[in-house]
Amino acid sequence: MTAWLAPREGREPANIQTMKVKIVAALIASLWTAGVLQSVRAEQASTTWSGVYTEEQAKSGAAVYAKNCSECHLEDLAGDGFAPALKGPEFMNNWNSLSVGDLFERIRVSMPPSNPNSVSAKEKSDIVAHILKNAGFPAGTTELGSTTDSLKAIKFEATKPPLNH
Ligand code: HEC
Repeated sequence: MTAWLAPREGREPANIQTMKVKIVAALIASLWTAGVLQSVRAEQASTTWSGVYTEEQAKSGAAVYAKNCSECHLEDLAGDGFAPALKGPEFMNNWNSLSVGDLFERIRVSMPPSNPNSVSAKEKSDIVAHILKNAGFPAGTTELGSTTDSLKAIKFEATKPPLNH
């Protein structure tokens, strides 16, 4: 009895081992695919949650903002009288589902009201980084561009989408 059982017993662990290797391989493959798909998707659908500005840029933006905007919108972006807040629920609601390009363009053509050309496009892009940082959006490793077209590709999403990290 043990004579015909023995070789079988000997084989089974090997089979189970092969199976485990296969399962692990399949797991690694699917995790890898998920990672690839996710990065492809991140490239296709860039949002305010994708890390679209750098800390450094937001810092320069804060300085330009203090010099050219805070007189009306206040240092902490809270707004004052006719100048609306550039943070908080109303601001987020105004720009939600539009693009970062729309926000940039608004500033580019109309702010500061007395002389929109007194602040360069690059400086305004830095200011947008400062605004995004204050809104709680994460910094990344690439600076925001300073053309409306490039920034139109970034969707302003007020609330964090569940699948983005
Ligand atoms: C002299 C005061 C003043 C200065 C300086 C100023 N703003 Fe404004 N800003 C306003 C007023 C008033 C409004 C609302 C009416 C309008 O659109 O003109 C406004 C509106 C805005 C809006 C639209 C907000 C929304 O949610 O609709 C943004 C964005 C903005 N300003 C950004 C800036 C930035 C960035 C700067 C600096 C480069 C700046 N502003 C400088 C007075 C000012």
